[in-house]
Amino acid sequence: MHFTINGAPREAEPDIRASLLDLLREHLGLTGTKKGCDHGQCGACTVLVNGRRINSCLTLAVMHQDDDILTIEGLGSADTLHPLQAAFVKHDGFQCGYCTPGQICSAVGMLDEVAKGWPSHVSGSLDAIDLNDAEISERMSGNLCRCSAYPNIVDAISEVAGLAPSGADA
Ligand code: FES
Ligand code: FES
Repeated sequence: MHFTINGAPREAEPDIRASLLDLLREHLGLTGTKKGCDHGQCGACTVLVNGRRINSCLTLAVMHQDDDILTIEGLGSADTLHPLQAAFVKHDGFQCGYCTPGQICSAVGMLDEVAKGWPSHVSGSLDAIDLNDAEISERMSGNLCRCSAYPNIVDAISEVAGLAPSGADA
């Protein structure tokens, strides 16, 4: 099978039962994507497929022939952090860091959904999204953090979205 992973062509012959998460971690060595629950509950495995965020544990690798897959390794590097990575560092958006790759990939997808005008469960209007803490929390609710860094994660995302961090939690 052929994939584009982090901008580069990759080939693999995954077992037909293998999840995309296991393909990334076990066969392609991309261990930045984390396995938390392995059944769609925690968001640690979030990656972007053709620009949309998905739980990579819930999709079979064989469903992704020719897909464009972006993982945390493709977003930035230690020397050149993605703006969200830099904001997570600045705002202390993590403690153990296990959920962080999924949080950041999810936030990339979430901000794109907002830019496209897709409403969430808490949007007050279908015509204009007022991105605020409640919107960000709702839209990121599929990404759990056992260290409970939620206020700082929201602040980091707020900054990248061009909002003033609430600061209420500081
Ligand atoms: S490992 Fe995929 S949602 Fe938890
Ligand atoms: S930083 Fe530890 S689980 Fe989120």
